[in-house]
Amino acid sequence: MLTTAEIKTLRKLLLAWFRQFQRDLPWRRTKDPYAVWISEIMLQQTRVAAVIPYYERFLSRFPNGRALAEAPQEEVLRLWSGLGYYSRARNLQKAAQQILAQHGGQFPQAKDDVMALAGIGPYTGAAILSIAFGAKHAALDGNVARVLARLGAVRGDLRESLRWQLLQRSAVELLDPKSPGDWNQAMMELGAMVCTPRTPQCLLCPVAKFCRARQSGEPEAFPEKRKKRDAVQIVLAAAVFSTPRGQTLLMPPPGNKKVNKPAADDIDTLVSRLWHFPTISVRNDVSAELRDYLLDSLPAGNGKLHLEPLPRIRHAVTYRNITVLPFRIPAAKIPRIPGARSIPLRDFSALPVSNLTRKIARAALLQSTEPAAKLALKP
Ligand code: ADE
Repeated sequence: MLTTAEIKTLRKLLLAWFRQFQRDLPWRRTKDPYAVWISEIMLQQTRVAAVIPYYERFLSRFPNGRALAEAPQEEVLRLWSGLGYYSRARNLQKAAQQILAQHGGQFPQAKDDVMALAGIGPYTGAAILSIAFGAKHAALDGNVARVLARLGAVRGDLRESLRWQLLQRSAVELLDPKSPGDWNQAMMELGAMVCTPRTPQCLLCPVAKFCRARQSGEPEAFPEKRKKRDAVQIVLAAAVFSTPRGQTLLMPPPGNKKVNKPAADDIDTLVSRLWHFPTISVRNDVSAELRDYLLDSLPAGNGKLHLEPLPRIRHAVTYRNITVLPFRIPAAKIPRIPGARSIPLRDFSALPVSNLTRKIARAALLQSTEPAAKLALKP
């Protein structure tokens, strides 16, 4: 427990450190709630370096909530393509439409209104309200929780409900009431740059003298490791049709009613409800199962399918370890499947696809015997 005077000193030291050493990030140059909101959503589960180019492209294409609300969903997803967790993009657009319909296009300032927007939880709500409007809300995410757990030498799983509430109370207690936006970002910055998960840089820490984990001599022992959920192993087979002109076939996002024969339910989440190669989950005889699936789905007349195995691809999403076994299928023409599209294998820029789909395309291009396909590969 820190005294009131100690809390004041801690605030002063951390804010001074932040104001001197903070990274110059594009979303820190604005207080526009729309821009702050986009940045906070993109930064969920995603590294700052990965977010920057997406943030800049997204804001130049959708400079305000109205532009986002009125855009075709496919274009929103295309600009998100590669960033992962695509429900974030769908929710962003849904919330932009809520703001237009319910708040005349102005980002709301009342906490209840903000929390009623799609995709905004307590952390994001507090971050936007404090950064854009200077409202006194403490933002608690995984990084901030680690900083607080170390300051207070809190033991146990931080995500357990009662412990999270305890951390929330200490976040509120420490929040600087004069600069809540800077304060929240200072806590995030400390967690990202100094008080890192494995090797905290206590010698560089402006508030090390208040840190009970440091006093214990073993700061990295806090927080304690969480019990990890067992990884689920999933094996998928994907069909990469390939014509002499470099065209391939992509299936539309699952759930699209135009498709006659959707793949198994679990494929929906694995392909992120984006455009994807024909994909199934497989058990034993991989190429036979994929061939049967394709022959069932394709129009008659595609009786002979030659499946050339490509190198396997591994892809991890949260607790799922996915192995994809892609097959290149040479074809004179792309078969016609309702809803599916024929597009160039080397250029998916017209459609929203996941990183997994890009990895599969890359494997197929690398294996390709056509020199033109290899030349088109970007490093
Ligand atoms: N992570 C989440 N929000 C952030 C922000 N505003 N700046 C840097 N990293 C963040």
